[in-house]
Amino acid sequence: MLQTLLFILTVIKMTDCEILNPGAPNNFSIKVLENFTGEAGLCIRVFCSFTFPQSVSDPIRRTWFKGDPQNPAVEDANYFRNVGFSHNEKDCSFLLNHLVQGESDGEYRLKLEWGKGNVYIFPQTVNITVKELTQKPPIKVPLLTEGDEAQITCKVPGNCIKPLADIVWTGIDGKTSRGVRGVPGQEEHFSILTFHPKPEHHNTNLTCSVALQGRTWTESTVILKVRYAPKILNSSRCFVWGDELSCMCVSSGVPLPQIYWPILNSTAKHCRAVSTENNISISNISIPALRNINASIECVSKNLIGTTKMEIQVHNRVEKPKESWSLSTPWIFFTLSVVLNVIFASCLTVILWKREKPTKPKDKDHVYMTAMKREESVYETIKMSSERS
Ligand SMILES: *[C@@H]1O[C@H](CO)[C@@H](O)[C@H](O)[C@H]1NC(C)=O
Ligand SMILES: *[C@@H]1O[C@H](CO)[C@@H](O)[C@H](O)[C@H]1NC(C)=O
Ligand SMILES: *[C@@H]1O[C@H](CO)[C@@H](O)[C@H](O)[C@H]1NC(C)=O
Ligand SMILES: *[C@@H]1O[C@H](CO)[C@@H](O)[C@H](O)[C@H]1NC(C)=O
Ligand SMILES: *[C@@H]1O[C@H](CO)[C@@H](O)[C@H](O)[C@H]1NC(C)=O
Ligand SMILES: *[C@@H]1O[C@H](CO)[C@@H](O)[C@H](O)[C@H]1NC(C)=O
Ligand SMILES: *[C@@H]1O[C@H](CO)[C@@H](O)[C@H](O)[C@H]1NC(C)=O
Ligand SMILES: *[C@@H]1O[C@H](CO)[C@@H](O)[C@H](O)[C@H]1NC(C)=O
Ligand SMILES: *[C@@H]1O[C@H](CO)[C@@H](O)[C@H](O)[C@H]1NC(C)=O
Repeated sequence: MLQTLLFILTVIKMTDCEILNPGAPNNFSIKVLENFTGEAGLCIRVFCSFTFPQSVSDPIRRTWFKGDPQNPAVEDANYFRNVGFSHNEKDCSFLLNHLVQGESDGEYRLKLEWGKGNVYIFPQTVNITVKELTQKPPIKVPLLTEGDEAQITCKVPGNCIKPLADIVWTGIDGKTSRGVRGVPGQEEHFSILTFHPKPEHHNTNLTCSVALQGRTWTESTVILKVRYAPKILNSSRCFVWGDELSCMCVSSGVPLPQIYWPILNSTAKHCRAVSTENNISISNISIPALRNINASIECVSKNLIGTTKMEIQVHNRVEKPKESWSLSTPWIFFTLSVVLNVIFASCLTVILWKREKPTKPKDKDHVYMTAMKREESVYETIKMSSERS
């Protein structure tokens, strides 16, 4: 400690001396900015150069310290530039990595050592300030199309060296891997999410969370847009109602698909609707029912990605309103008739057994036939109603 103090005093004295006697050997100068501000978990690059008198011989050891000159503050000083300096000028740039608020802050100074125990400390200071992390990890999303493999990247903020970053994706299940690119000293670290986009992924939120040094979190969210060929949905239908044919074609796709009715061209009235999610188109048409109308009408849907067709069955609307109650009523009738038949048959069998024993086989046949007939008629009702639905 005492040694250090003495040493600093010597340096100051020498500096004073130099001012008093121009031309003295220690003609040092440094070119560096005074103040730097960084964000927690990231890094600061300090660009710096210094000149030294000819009496100073190579190699010159350069150490950045904070407080005590014996304690280097920058573990491995990264000298970025080695060219473009004159013979008595050298680089003293450094990278302060893995910044911690309250720890990395302070005044940094440069110490030079050469020859046999020669030391010089620059009086200039570099003031480092570390603020809260505000940078977000940038997410890069390519055009997503169903069927094509997609790679989404999320970059660790700052172009620091070997960032201590954990990256977590939420919203999509896929394979993840790490990547690095860029020139040494200016590295870009990122995570790559590989997956197969599906229509369900349309409008999904994808979040990339980055934890720096296990204590500073930052995240970004994107809403995915997935392009896919039209799919004509099963809710599409056609009805003949009175002497009018009404058809509805429902198609899902991104970009929003167009709907065509090839057989019912231009003469038909069109009515188009679009879902709020912007991925479903509906086209309604209504035309006078043609005498020789086909059992199905073709609907064609098209967008940038592809074309889809569907034959929509034509139903008779007149029978439609019955559907709601006709589904359960036959079963009530069926059950009732079976119960009644059983009771009736039992009573009849008992009565007939008591009265006329010799004619028994004939009556049994009769009862059996009655039950069969009832069941057949009920079966027909069920069959008809299921055709309607
Ligand atoms: C000291 O440095 C100044 C400016 O950097 C320069 O003008 C002067 O010639 C130098 N003197 C010596 C002795 O190197
Ligand atoms: C550096 O910061 C100090 C205190 O914040 C300020 O007084 C000084 O002017 C700044 N220097 C430069 C070059 O901005
Ligand atoms: C260093 O920066 C901090 C924050 O900007 C400031 O409070 C302090 O005065 C500065 N010190 C010097 C020597 O410029
Ligand atoms: C339409 O987009 C929504 C999200 O907005 C999605 O949940 C739905 O699956 C998509 N519809 C179809 C039929 O793909
Ligand atoms: C997606 O994020 C938006 C805000 O960016 C939010 O309003 C919405 O509720 C999120 N949706 C889901 C499904 O999390
Ligand atoms: C429509 O229904 C059929 C049979 O029920 C099914 O195979 C097909 O995938 C369905 N299509 C859509 C788009 O839901
Ligand atoms: C319209 O449909 C009729 C037959 O249904 C066909 O002959 C005619 O070429 C169609 N017109 C156009 C413009 O598609
Ligand atoms: C299309 O027709 C259906 C019933 O067939 C109706 O519910 C729907 O509102 C109609 N849509 C438009 C846009 O007219
Ligand atoms: C309708 O029926 C006619 C004659 O049977 C046939 O030529 C035509 O291709 C059918 N159209 C559709 C859309 O099924």
